[in-house]
Amino acid sequence: MSDAHEAATPRPGAGGPKVVLIGPMGVGKSTVGALLAERLGTGYRDTDADIVAAEGREISDIFVEDGEPHFRELERAAVRTAVAEHTGVLALGGGAILDQGTRELLSGLPVAYLSMDVEEAVRRVGLNTARPLLAVNPRRQWRELMEARRHLYTEVARVVVATDDRTPEEVAQAVLDALEWKDA
Ligand code: S3P
Repeated sequence: MSDAHEAATPRPGAGGPKVVLIGPMGVGKSTVGALLAERLGTGYRDTDADIVAAEGREISDIFVEDGEPHFRELERAAVRTAVAEHTGVLALGGGAILDQGTRELLSGLPVAYLSMDVEEAVRRVGLNTARPLLAVNPRRQWRELMEARRHLYTEVARVVVATDDRTPEEVAQAVLDALEWKDA
């Protein structure tokens, strides 16, 4: 771990995001994140959008042109900058937690894992061609994806909030409730 890495990691209580949202694609991180930012009177930031703006190309193009390992490096750098600079609500891409360096950057932060079950996932993203990861056999692909990721989401999360059968407003409220009593 480099000194630069450690210097950019905010210490608990020394600023940093008020809430960090993690969870799989389609779970509603951006919708809930924007609602939370409004409720908290603060800004919303999304590392996927930061990467697209910095690179001047879509994430799908980065995957195709440079491969997933390169994308994860860009994502780690984007998370490092965002947790150092941003004091509002921050949402990360669904696979950000796959990278150990990114997981380390989240240590001590108020991280909320938004979860959903397989049926909800298939309803929300299974038929969405913009998310080819789940396009062929959504149920099986979802299960495999979550088997690889679930323990990493829970490892870095301070709180877990189930989104099944809840509106975005209800999820936002549940995140606030969970983090408030943990933070009190
Ligand atoms: C990914 C999720 C995406 C984006 C990229 C990879 C993943 O973010 O970072 O396409 O590996 O799950 P969203 O979770 O915002 O869709």
